[in-house]
This record gives sequence, C-alpha cells and structure tokens, in this order.
Amino acid sequence: MVELRLPKNSQIRTGKTWPKPAGATRLREFKIYRYDPDTGDNPRTDTYFVDLDDCGPMVLDGLLWIKNKVDPTLTLRRSCREGICGSCSMNIDGLNTLACTKGMSEISGTIAIYPLPHMPVIKDLVPDLSTFYAQHRSVEPWLKTTDAAPDKEWLQSRADREKLDGLYECILCACCSTSCPSYWWNGEKYLGPAVLLQAYRWLIDSRDQTTSERLDNLEDPFKLYRCHTIMNCSKACPKGLNPAKAIAEIKKMMIERKAA
Ligand code: SF4
Ligand code: SF4
Ligand code: FES
Repeated sequence: MVELRLPKNSQIRTGKTWPKPAGATRLREFKIYRYDPDTGDNPRTDTYFVDLDDCGPMVLDGLLWIKNKVDPTLTLRRSCREGICGSCSMNIDGLNTLACTKGMSEISGTIAIYPLPHMPVIKDLVPDLSTFYAQHRSVEPWLKTTDAAPDKEWLQSRADREKLDGLYECILCACCSTSCPSYWWNGEKYLGPAVLLQAYRWLIDSRDQTTSERLDNLEDPFKLYRCHTIMNCSKACPKGLNPAKAIAEIKKMMIERKAA
C-alpha cells in the first residue's frame, strides 16, 4: 500500500504558466493538475503550450511532449499507447477517458486534464488504485472448477463463448468506477461498475463451476446493490462496454436464484 501524503485541503490553486515554445506557430494550451506529495502544498494547475507541428495528435502525445521538452517532473501513467493497457486513464475535458485514444482535435479550447476523480492522488495524474485492485481480487477473476482438469483444455461452445463478448474486452482502466456517484460515496464497500462487470464475466462463463459461491460473495447490501442505475459508467467506458447492463444481469441472477 502506497503511503499517501495528501494536500491540506482540496483547494486547487493556479500554478505556473510555462513559456511558449520559441518559433512555434501552431500552439495548443494544456491546463494540467499538479500535486507533489514531497512539498505537501495544495494542488495547482499549471499551463503549458504544445507545438502541434512537433507533436502527435493524441492527448497522450501532448502530455509526453510536455514531459520530454518542457517539464520532466510531470507525472503520469502510460504504457501501450493504443487503448489496451488501461493505464493512461484520466479526466480530460471533463470526461474520464484514455489519453492515448483521445485526439486533441476532439476538444475545443484549452485541454484541461485532472486525475481520475474521487481517488487519492499519489502524484500529479497518478491516482492510488490500491482499493480498486483489491476489489478486483475479491471477485476472484479467474476460472474456478471442481471437476478434474481435462487432458487438454476446458471446452466451450461457440454460443457460450459469445456470451463473454462485451465483457472480456474490459481493460480495467477504472474510467467507469471513478465516474459513478455511488462509487464516489461508498468506494470502500460498493464494488463499482468495473469490478462488477468483471464479476459477471466469470458468473456467465459456461466453464466456471462456482457460480453459486460467486453469487453468495456478492449478496451484500453494499457490494452490488449500491448501483442505482445512474448509467454514468456506461457513458464513460472508452471501450464502449456497458457495465450497468452487466450489473443488472447479476441482479437478475440473484432474483432467479431466490425464485428457483
Ligand atoms: S449504473 Fe450503477 S455502476 Fe453505473 S454509474 Fe450508475 S450507479 Fe454507478
Ligand atoms: S468497463 Fe470500460 S471503463 Fe470500466 S474498467 Fe472496463 S474498460 Fe474501463
Ligand atoms: S497507454 Fe495503454 S491504454 Fe493508454
């Protein structure tokens, strides 16, 4: 667990405006949230100008241009730069999304960037996702079986495999959970849309033999039932997935089990 030294209060002050790059004719203004745990000062927003003729088209390209050419202290997570690893999730222009798949041209005016909302901040654009990952672990996101393992592999019909479409693509970026008001208010106890989508992915896997145990684990006033179908999660997902629907399917499984 990362030890967090949080700012004294949540007030964000206006920070430094960095100089415009010399000779650049096509500029884009970025306003970026900064928080340095070593100073303990309140967070601030710094303003930077990116030379569009020297930079790729995505928001992540702009951030890396700033980091490489202007201010190496700017801290962010990224890895794949193509929407696969889920590590560059942040709040861009008021929406949670992936910096590597969000084009600068999709945003008008200044590009405002903050960390994912309602999470403790480790530094700048890096939130602490320890609780989120612990919650993911709690749903045991792997195949669990009771039968003896087959010689070769656990088979699945094409129709059963198709039931995993819209679920297996989740990259655990946390854009959905951190846009969910219920998760903001009860993030320690409510599992949130990303983790519940993952839970459902294993609940409906025809090869898994612990469905009843998995449902028992979710039968709790907070873990599942704090979803009030506000739908922010499905609007936020940069992979076009529908966590709210997955949550509704789990609730349906609960009802069907009670009725059986
Ligand atoms: S539908 Fe449920 S999980 Fe999605 S944002 Fe609303 S309350 Fe959160
Ligand atoms: S459901 Fe979508 S927004 Fe949520 S963690 Fe998975 S990929 Fe990210
Ligand atoms: S860098 Fe991997 S999803 Fe953006």
